[in-house]
Amino acid sequence: MVDTGACYESKRIRVTVNGVTYERDVDVRLLLSDFIRQELGLTGTHVGCEEGVCGACSVILDGKLVRSCLMFAVQADGCQITTVEGIAQGPDNLHPIQEALIENHGVQCGFCTPGVVVSMYSFLKENPEPSEEEIREALAGNICRCTGYAGIVRAVKSASRKAR
Ligand code: FES
Ligand code: FES
Repeated sequence: MVDTGACYESKRIRVTVNGVTYERDVDVRLLLSDFIRQELGLTGTHVGCEEGVCGACSVILDGKLVRSCLMFAVQADGCQITTVEGIAQGPDNLHPIQEALIENHGVQCGFCTPGVVVSMYSFLKENPEPSEEEIREALAGNICRCTGYAGIVRAVKSASRKAR
């Protein structure tokens, strides 16, 4: 057997995700996106490009929108994380952004949708009355290959009106 010299170091981390605290031993090289999906089973966080471009892996970490594919899980030690699973009150009580995406046909294949929901949730908290230009600018970090964005933009506008 070839000795590759690989050294797997693990570290115990503690994170609170959607209000639930988890402690896990993780490989120090494990990406936060893989930790959320594989260790915690929260597969609503999608992984597309794995290089910070598509926005599908967006989560909120200590109040800031981040791309979980660009962080190691160990960097989230001690942090509060909200994933898309933490946005709605429940399956029968969706967040206004989620309802608006449905009503405005802002979802097709749905791959980008969790990232859009998390990003726009964070954006509307910072800017509750955005112009269309500001919405389009905020959506620039979320790539959608299906909808052409018109429905998503309408949905964000509609959700911002409802939240007022
Ligand atoms: S998977 Fe993280 S930005 Fe695309
Ligand atoms: S709905 Fe398919 S990528 Fe956006």
